[in-house]
Amino acid sequence: MESKQLRQVINLRKICIINQKGGVGKTTTAINIAAGLSRKDKKVLLIDFDAQGNVATSLNIEHDKDIYSILTENADISQCTKNLGKNLSIIPSRETLTKTEVMIANLPNKEMILKTKLRGLTGYDYVLIDCPPSLGLLSQNALLYAQEAFIPVSTDYLGYDALLKMKDAIKEINLHFKHNLRITKVIPTLFDKRNKTCKIFLDHITNQFYEITSDPIRINSKIKEAPACGKSIFSYAKNSRGAKDYMKLVNMILNEEKQVLSVYPKSEDLVSLNNPKVLAELRKKASSNA
Ligand SMILES: Nc1ncnc2c1ncn2[C@@H]1O[C@H](COP(=O)(O)OP(=O)(O)OP(=O)(O)O)[C@@H](O)[C@H]1O
Ligand SMILES: [Mg+2]
Repeated sequence: MESKQLRQVINLRKICIINQKGGVGKTTTAINIAAGLSRKDKKVLLIDFDAQGNVATSLNIEHDKDIYSILTENADISQCTKNLGKNLSIIPSRETLTKTEVMIANLPNKEMILKTKLRGLTGYDYVLIDCPPSLGLLSQNALLYAQEAFIPVSTDYLGYDALLKMKDAIKEINLHFKHNLRITKVIPTLFDKRNKTCKIFLDHITNQFYEITSDPIRINSKIKEAPACGKSIFSYAKNSRGAKDYMKLVNMILNEEKQVLSVYPKSEDLVSLNNPKVLAELRKKASSNA
């Protein structure tokens, strides 16, 4: 059991879905990647890190405790997690999260609160974080927890500009905090093949980020409608273009899984596993799950 737990800690992919530009499809992408991976039998935790609380609204989730309680009230993670089916769990958020930035602003290691709270988390293959449209303290916490960044980018001039700025911001954060966050996926969104601007900027994005750019997610009215019914695109309209595009992306993520994990920095997880306290906690969790 212990080696299974150990494997889970080490094989966990920690991904933030981030772009400081608003309305580029971060939440849509986070929800549909999470739903798609869970349909492919991966255990997924989706954390809403945006005070707009769009994940809970889009999936029609009611909740008492959320990410705010974890960050500021020392609440147990399991108390704040809502399970949607056997493979998909959600930690929602709401407007109270805006208070968090103020509350943690003067704490030492204020950028590492999420990382500290989630240390030793097991039972998942993927943790996905839906980030707010800013590079404030909350986003910095997400960036410093994650090992990978997925950047959804609208296929237009402002989207492309935001992508270049995001790349620079990640470089700076990595340098400043001696972190090793890698951009592993750039996801062109809101693509309309009849629109010349979309085609031009899809080319720019692909040329600049050739190895990590996915196929574009096309504009699709079903994607817009799904949140009103509280469903992912796969539950709402499984034959739609939106469902096809997101499933293609999910398959690409899965195909690259082994390769991505093989270059994950292992040191931190191994250090925490060498810590007798962390190991004792893992053993306790293992026996209570047995
Ligand atoms: N492929 C698509 N086709 C049609 N509409 C889309 C598509 N992707 C996203 N949308 C719509 O665009 C709007 C913005 O999407 P979303 O909320 O996912 O962006 P966001 O980056 O999370 O925004 P914010 O920065 O405010 O958090 C939503 O109304 C969503 O339904
Ligand atoms: Mg959003």
